[in-house]
Amino acid sequence: MGEPRRILRFPASQRIEHAVTMVSFTILAITGLVQKYAMASLSEAIIALLGGIETVRAIHHIFAVVLMLEAIYHLGAVGYRLFVLHQPPSILLSLQDLRAGWQIFLNNLGLSRERPLQGRYTFEEKVEYWALVWGTVVMAVTGFMMWNPIATTRLLPGEFVPAAKAAHGGEAVLAVLAILVWHSYHVHLRQFNKSMFTGYLSEEEMLEEHPLELADLKAGVSPRPLDPAAVARRRRIFLPIYSLLAASMLVGVYFFTSYEHTAITTIPPAEDVVVYVPLTPTPLPTPLPTKPPPAGAPTTWEDGFADLFAEKCGSCHGTAKVGGLDLAEYEGALAGGKSGPAIVPGDPAASRLVIVQATGDHPGQLTGQELALVRAWIEAGAPER
Ligand code: HEC
Repeated sequence: MGEPRRILRFPASQRIEHAVTMVSFTILAITGLVQKYAMASLSEAIIALLGGIETVRAIHHIFAVVLMLEAIYHLGAVGYRLFVLHQPPSILLSLQDLRAGWQIFLNNLGLSRERPLQGRYTFEEKVEYWALVWGTVVMAVTGFMMWNPIATTRLLPGEFVPAAKAAHGGEAVLAVLAILVWHSYHVHLRQFNKSMFTGYLSEEEMLEEHPLELADLKAGVSPRPLDPAAVARRRRIFLPIYSLLAASMLVGVYFFTSYEHTAITTIPPAEDVVVYVPLTPTPLPTPLPTKPPPAGAPTTWEDGFADLFAEKCGSCHGTAKVGGLDLAEYEGALAGGKSGPAIVPGDPAASRLVIVQATGDHPGQLTGQELALVRAWIEAGAPER
């Protein structure tokens, strides 16, 4: 049996997962950070390039959904490998990893020549994987709170919304720095590990990075042979359970994205409005169209208006002459009070009496009907008899 020179590390499905995560993470980071640091000139340039803040937010939301769907798929894929294929949970952190981490730390500082012998996943890889899992959970939870602030404050105190925003932005910076520092160093700088794209590592690379796994592979310890009947049985149990879980998580994502329209909508730029508008003079009460007075209505001072004024106005504008106005006599009515003639024959609009009464709140007030009669009488020249 010829020894394979290249060893399959990541099957296509996992490489696709990595590609989807890489693309959505990058887009989320860019569209998110320009919102977090919206005042920076670089952010402004990127926002303008992408077509404005609303488009940036829409792209961020779309790729948040892509990443959530990938996470749901990942749970299924991991579950399938663990529960159906009975693969060992090799990405779990163990005490041995702490020791390895310490050794790597010393080695990186040049205090120790030795690097630990590691298996399927190195300490660096495990830390990165769990940071991604943890980060995705934090981003999903805090993202939900910002996307649905009203629903959030129905369950939690209001402070949780700005707190979620702070955590979302802080975790974003942390995640981007982790990729730029930790990820870049371990898979691009210290060695250029292309297995996530090609799928394969050479034997030499395996010996360097994953000697324990290589040893297991050579000894035939892994992968363990599987009993097809047992796998089929476990799959029959796993698939319906996962389908149910995935369906409820998909409903969750739908709820997440559609439950409420986030209150913050970018306000369109203000229009130009004319601030100074010259005052238009208040129009004088327009004279009502003069109808011929109804039959039996007074048409002269003597046949009724004298009595009307005596009854309605006499208490103040009789002998008391409030405001200098005496409405007890025809002459007094024409002469008016301190503001001038109360009645200008032929011109109701110029008559103080009509102007004062038209306000509707004079201490002694004619009814609308009476005022109309007075107008018609003045219009007709205010005859005395
Ligand atoms: C309860 C008292 C009272 C009654 C009743 C009353 N007025 Fe007057 N009137 C006043 C007062 C007070 C003034 C304001 C005097 C001033 O500005 O110094 C006034 C002022 C006026 C003036 C303006 C006088 C001027 O030259 O400044 C007119 C016109 C007038 N009244 C008409 C009437 C008519 C018509 C009636 C009856 C329908 C009437 N008033 C009933 C209290 C009254």
